[in-house]
Amino acid sequence: MGARVIIVSNRVAVPDSPRTPLAGGMAVAVKAALKNRKGMWFGWSGKVSDEPVETSQAVEVNKVTYVLIDLSKSDIQEYYNGLANSVLWPTLHYRVDLQEYSRADASGYMRVNRMFADRLGALLNEDDVVWVHDYHLMLLGRELRSRGHRNRIGFFLHTPCAPPDILQTLPQHKEILGGLTYYDLVGFQTENDRENFAHYLTTIGAAQVRGGVFEIGSRKVRLGAFPVSIESKAYMRLARNAGRSALVALVRESLGGSRLVLGVDRLDYSKGIPDRVKAFERLLENNPEWRGRVTLLQITPKSRSDVKQYGEIESEVTGLIGKVNGQFGDAAWTPIRYVNRSYSRTVLAGLYRAADVAMVTPLRDGMNLVAKEYLAAQDPEDPGVLVLSEFAGAAKELDRALIVNPHETDAVAAALKRALEMPLAERRERHAPMVAHLLENDIRKWAEDYLAALVEGAPARNLLAGIRALFGVSSDQAPFAIR
Ligand code: UDP
Ligand code: G6P
Repeated sequence: MGARVIIVSNRVAVPDSPRTPLAGGMAVAVKAALKNRKGMWFGWSGKVSDEPVETSQAVEVNKVTYVLIDLSKSDIQEYYNGLANSVLWPTLHYRVDLQEYSRADASGYMRVNRMFADRLGALLNEDDVVWVHDYHLMLLGRELRSRGHRNRIGFFLHTPCAPPDILQTLPQHKEILGGLTYYDLVGFQTENDRENFAHYLTTIGAAQVRGGVFEIGSRKVRLGAFPVSIESKAYMRLARNAGRSALVALVRESLGGSRLVLGVDRLDYSKGIPDRVKAFERLLENNPEWRGRVTLLQITPKSRSDVKQYGEIESEVTGLIGKVNGQFGDAAWTPIRYVNRSYSRTVLAGLYRAADVAMVTPLRDGMNLVAKEYLAAQDPEDPGVLVLSEFAGAAKELDRALIVNPHETDAVAAALKRALEMPLAERRERHAPMVAHLLENDIRKWAEDYLAALVEGAPARNLLAGIRALFGVSSDQAPFAIR
């Protein structure tokens, strides 16, 4: 049997799930990377059960075999809501103030990582390549190694990686973050994230660096930056058609000529929604001529609602939007339309195309695919304008957007005004190079670059050949340069 690529993540884009549409960049990206390819995706079924079935359920859809496991209520509480989303997520997003750690949650996290290793280990062939995604499964590599698996095993962090001073505040950081050193390759979204972790390993982990390889005792790990992306070409096609859909026409008609500013974010404190609402309010305060002529449509599917900090951000956002609508709205115009539901990929593409401006203003974000999708969805002849936070990983690539500091309300309001008033020639001139960049650097390239780097130097020549066959990496492609 040839080498297989096995993707592992907590969240899986489960085919035919009633939970679609997806609202999360990791699963969207992995789903796109696997399109038309052969592979296996192993992870959580999305189901919570008091008596999770011992055998994993496998289904094959479009050449991908999905192997899904249920989690118990205590797994969800301790591992998902607990250590992953109340400790790791805030810490990686520089929000030490929001950390809520407990030993019970940490041991639940370790238990679930062990369980993933047991279940996955039973399916592994010797030459399989394993690619683990995101902060839920930092210890999976270590657990697989301790069970004797000598496969190539890589990890990719979809979130930002904070600097060592912040990472150090994580209780048990040496065990949890140190777990990443059992992988062969750890991938990050940006050079900045990669450097932060490299610093952590050399300063706190006392790693020695030889020829770009970080050595900790007998373990050797490589680090690289691989910016995640979208299916650029397919997305452009989708948006062209979706822009003509009935729903988009209805939205346009309901705006009655008012300009459309769009925000699309999971309801998460990292997304800077309150700050964005304040900037929109400032635009209306400072520029009475825009009152009644611009509408912010904020699409915000609820996320991780059982975690306390998420309940708090929900009340804060609702309160702020109510205040702006109460103060500036009138019988014929609501300044901010706020929707707590998720939309399908097609509907979103149409809304992006209809929007004059997108506000992507997270306080901190690993990449932010919404920014890339918005650009790909524009009509190149009459494109909208992206207002983008300098703290989104995407800002490193999309430098012709209007880059803002989301903490600076006046500056964001001014950028929004500039976006609304930007002449066509400037809009085109900014949009074209960014779309060219996305066409060159799409999701396929991300997956290929990562996998080529993961198998680089692998002893078995046939391993590389297997990966090339599976992921269509051309044989003359230069290997990704890892620093
Ligand atoms: N998304 C969606 N429907 C929605 C809202 C979001 O399909 O109603 C998708 C969106 O198109 C994007 C992803 O969810 O592909 C969000 O990814 P992003 O990187 O922007 O943020 P994350 O949620 O991963 O932090
Ligand atoms: C971010 C994380 C993903 C996660 C997604 C949605 O993109 O990096 O790992 O899947 O948010 O969050 P959820 O908790 O619903 O999986």
